[in-house]
Amino acid sequence: MSASPIIDVRNLRTHFHTEKGRVTAVDDVSFHVKRNEILGVVGESGCGKSVTSEAIMQLLNTDITDFEGEIIFNGENLLAVGENRLSQIRGKEISMIFQDTTSSLNPIYTVGDQIIEALQTHGRHSHKEAAAAALKVVSATGIPSPEKRLKEYPHELSGGMRQRIMIAMALVCEPKLLIADEPTTALDVTTQAQILDLIIQMKNNLDMGVIFITHDMGVVAEVCDRVAVMYLGQVIENSTVESLFEAPLHPYTRGLMQAMPTIDSDPQADLYTIKGKVPSLFDVPDGCRFAARCPYRTDKCVSQAPTLDAATEGHKVRCWHWKAVADGTASEKEPDAENV
Ligand SMILES: Nc1ncnc2c1ncn2[C@@H]1O[C@H](COP(=O)(O)OP(=O)(O)O)[C@@H](O)[C@H]1O
Ligand code: SF4
Ligand SMILES: [Mg+2]
Repeated sequence: MSASPIIDVRNLRTHFHTEKGRVTAVDDVSFHVKRNEILGVVGESGCGKSVTSEAIMQLLNTDITDFEGEIIFNGENLLAVGENRLSQIRGKEISMIFQDTTSSLNPIYTVGDQIIEALQTHGRHSHKEAAAAALKVVSATGIPSPEKRLKEYPHELSGGMRQRIMIAMALVCEPKLLIADEPTTALDVTTQAQILDLIIQMKNNLDMGVIFITHDMGVVAEVCDRVAVMYLGQVIENSTVESLFEAPLHPYTRGLMQAMPTIDSDPQADLYTIKGKVPSLFDVPDGCRFAARCPYRTDKCVSQAPTLDAATEGHKVRCWHWKAVADGTASEKEPDAENV
């Protein structure tokens, strides 16, 4: 396993120019991923997970989007390379899979033809070689009767099989980095578990780095090595999965953990929910972005934005009072009434 990161996102900001003004959907996000490692990016809907991954792939419309920072992939800054280089990288060196397979697979071609095309776009392969590679990669996903499936159209497959085909298509060029954006959210629990196993197995086989985006802490615990927790466009905690689950430090992360069902939880009981709502991107607080919902906030939290600092080796947190929260010495208040 190589020690240097395959991708190093440094102080990434993305600004959208909208009719109502400029919004900064991703605001100073940094993380890295090594080969043979899965980084989970977790947070509620709207916190900037997809915009981060679309920035890495440079899929955002540059007429309405500005970027700051650096996205160093294998030594190159993706924010500075031209479109020609990006089109070589996309789908070959970095691949992406999404929740929604229906818009990613073309309904009028067989899945075999689509995988063959993905391969031929990026390399000189005869049709025969490409067909053999397609069969190999689809067989590796564990789909029963792979030869038969390759001749079928997307609508003939179940949701779980379509997601396996998407994974096969993403991996046929043996990328160095896979970005999986909520790939199992639409699937039932059993299929979800099989797809997660498949992603881990493929990561090992190809020695790939994986950015695994999810809103589900349970999924993070199952598949990820490290995790970045996002809140309103920022990373608020970043650590190994073990350290995060053993000792979550940020009040928001602690809330997410308490909101997770466990094997022992009473199915009739209401799960804990974090009170209040996420502020609008048009009205980002000056101080801590979580302050209005945080039971531990002080005047300092409201007036000064906390920075992401190392709490322990390899565990960073963006909170002024993480230590007192962890010790149990921080006093608790009700969240801001206006925000509930
Ligand atoms: N093109 C756009 N113009 C303006 N705002 C956008 C645009 N795309 C996404 N956003 C906003 O950026 C924020 C982050 O979105 P997204 O990354 O999709 O969230 P999620 O974490 O659910 O994937 C949201 O508030 C979303 O409304
Ligand atoms: S900085 Fe203050 S308001 Fe923000 S999470 Fe920490 S304690 Fe809560
Ligand atoms: Mg998303």
